[in-house]
Amino acid sequence: MGETVSLGEVQETLLIPLYGRAHDAQRRNSILRDTKAIELVAAIDYDFTKFRGPTLSGAVLRASIFDEYIRGFLAEHPDGTVVDLGCGLSTRFDRLDNGRLRWFDLDLPDTMALRRKFFSDSDRYTMINGSILENDWYEQVREGGKPVFLVSEAVLLYFPADTVHRTLEQLATGFPGSRLAIDTGGKAMMKSQDRNPVFRRVPARMQWICDDPGTLAKCGLRLLESRDFASPQPSVGRLWPRRYRVGSKVMRVVLPPPVTTYKLNLFEAVADDERPSRNR
Ligand SMILES: C[S@@+](CC[C@H](N)C(=O)[O-])C[C@H]1O[C@@H](n2cnc3c(N)ncnc32)[C@H](O)[C@@H]1O
Repeated sequence: MGETVSLGEVQETLLIPLYGRAHDAQRRNSILRDTKAIELVAAIDYDFTKFRGPTLSGAVLRASIFDEYIRGFLAEHPDGTVVDLGCGLSTRFDRLDNGRLRWFDLDLPDTMALRRKFFSDSDRYTMINGSILENDWYEQVREGGKPVFLVSEAVLLYFPADTVHRTLEQLATGFPGSRLAIDTGGKAMMKSQDRNPVFRRVPARMQWICDDPGTLAKCGLRLLESRDFASPQPSVGRLWPRRYRVGSKVMRVVLPPPVTTYKLNLFEAVADDERPSRNR
């Protein structure tokens, strides 16, 4: 009998990318090689097979793009601090650890209780029970005064726009000069949720519609890079099996909006007094 899960509706969605990574790890030409995800899926008592479907690989492609953003930061700041907000059962620390960085994984208490059954803190790795919406964890991750990279993957999409905007402004103010990687989804993607063969298997629904990540300048975020799955992926694309590279090229021509309005974005947090205007 495996580990049973008792998670809130949004928290349960962490099992989708986990299954995606486990599925990917079983392939000969795996992108992330997340063999720990295979172990976790085997250890958790849950019907993962309901998530089988063509869109499952999206979570793996997304993770690989966010990995690339963080690798870029670590190349400049090998002693930097990385904070994964809404980490779920991600194994990104193991993938990106360079032996010098400081890493914090943060998630809600029920998710963290599950996570702690499989992961342990170490000298450079700390798990925090907390919420991306609150700021009570800021001091802990700022300790040491190193440059900070904040990543939050498939989390903010679940909140209403005003909550997301308030949270992003709070993060930008709390971590001026830091990098932030988040995903955004446009109207077409949000409207297609019930038709998504993987996503329709869970009760949670995404709420935040953002068709233009550049508009997040109003929250104090300068857009550095924004990609979708159809964008050329000069570096990380080399890790992708041929079928995804070809699929990406086809999308560039056909442009199905539910896919191409889903963006993987990299921002820089702008200090409060350097923001162009505080008018909304
Ligand atoms: C789709 S899962 C993504 C998990 C992980 N980022 C990944 O890609 O594997 C959504 C995650 O958001 C977390 N979450 C939901 N509300 C949150 C909050 N207020 N603060 C932090 N994490 C939250 C859930 O517990 C869950 O782990």
